[in-house]
Amino acid sequence: MNFADSEIVGAILTKEGYTLCKECGEADYILINTCAIRDNAEQRIRKRLKELKSLQRQRAWVRIGILGCMAERLKQKLMDEEENVSFIVGPDAYRQLPYMLEHIHDGEKLAETLLSDSETYADIDPVRYDTNGISAYISIMRGCQNYCAYCVVPYTRGRERSRDPQSIVREARELFEKGYREVTLLGQNVNSYRWNVDTESHKAEVGFPQLMEMVATISPLLRVRFATSHPKDLSDELLQVMARHDNICKCIHLPVQSGSERILKLMNRRYTPQWYLDRIDAIRHYLPTCSITTDVIAGFCTETEKDHTETLNMFRRVRYDYAYMFKFSMRPDTYAAKHLQDDVPDDIKTRRLEEIIALQGQIALENNQREIGKEYEVLIEGVSHRSDKQLFGRNSQNKVIVFDRGNLKPGQYAKVRVLRCTAATLIGEVIENR
Ligand code: 5AD
Ligand code: SF4
Repeated sequence: MNFADSEIVGAILTKEGYTLCKECGEADYILINTCAIRDNAEQRIRKRLKELKSLQRQRAWVRIGILGCMAERLKQKLMDEEENVSFIVGPDAYRQLPYMLEHIHDGEKLAETLLSDSETYADIDPVRYDTNGISAYISIMRGCQNYCAYCVVPYTRGRERSRDPQSIVREARELFEKGYREVTLLGQNVNSYRWNVDTESHKAEVGFPQLMEMVATISPLLRVRFATSHPKDLSDELLQVMARHDNICKCIHLPVQSGSERILKLMNRRYTPQWYLDRIDAIRHYLPTCSITTDVIAGFCTETEKDHTETLNMFRRVRYDYAYMFKFSMRPDTYAAKHLQDDVPDDIKTRRLEEIIALQGQIALENNQREIGKEYEVLIEGVSHRSDKQLFGRNSQNKVIVFDRGNLKPGQYAKVRVLRCTAATLIGEVIENR
């Protein structure tokens, strides 16, 4: 999401004549887009600001701005604590940036952190940074109001709002015409996507399944992915749409957070382990080849060994293909900060996290071993980091496959048979290209 936001900021500033520098040392303005989800994300930014002080000593006119969730969360406090920060801009205020850059005078500091109920940046064509020219992100909605007890996002990104479907389809079509072959539709909770079409002749609602269908019909050569789904809202209708279109990738990210019913309730996730497992069964029913990935938190307030064992059992039962695994980090303002105690000692959190990581590593390796001998259509993304004689790409399930280059190029599709694997990568051979 931050990556997509930086591309919007890039577009806003490019339009006003600013250009992107290759190195920090060449810049007149340094904008740092920040995350506030865990404390260590914020600590990294504090460290970066310290490192930038020596650069500022050589280039005294350089102005540093903090963008995104950390700016929103800390507002003025951040400027008071970090003397070398001149401006802070929250996630809904990026349109103010050109004005702000023009109006910061020596010694002055500016802040814009108002959240909006309607800003979606729908009319802005993001500048594509760091791109391979093949995959791009499209932000389809902003904000979240699920208020999971541990999560700062509802406070830093504001209320949910969806973007006009026509502007999303137009952006995806333009990307396809420029040679892109994969778009990922982004939102904190994409299943809450909703747009009312209300004209004189008809009234209708475009929900997420309909939006997916609209984007998928642009071309069978354009792959469509999405992130993230909240389990409580993952509908059968969406799974049916995914089953109907080969180019909608068969990969679902379904954050579980915990395997314990008690902890899920305390987290305000609004599903039980049984409900979650029923959703997993529905995915396997409609999409037998689908890969499933997740997020999990170790050591949430009051978590016992029994709760933790239930999380491990959830991992054994679902057999995720990939997981983002975190230690619980208490965030100010959240329900947990106001009403619960961060009472699992850090060494226990670490040990539990390590147990989850070890189990998941073993499951991922076993899952990959089962892929040996299977054939997949792979979208080639680039030259392998290990050897320039090899290319890498992904299958629909989002698994990376490496294979000999032959005369293939990034952006093409190839049919690849899996020969070997590690826990993270499949190694294959091309059997056909198109
Ligand atoms: N501590 C640890 N992990 C968190 N996440 C969100 N808030 C916290 C927190 N306070 C994780 C969740 C979420 C992912 C994006 O980050 O697993 O799904
Ligand atoms: Fe945070 Fe929960 Fe919203 Fe995800 S759904 S962004 S975890 S509040």
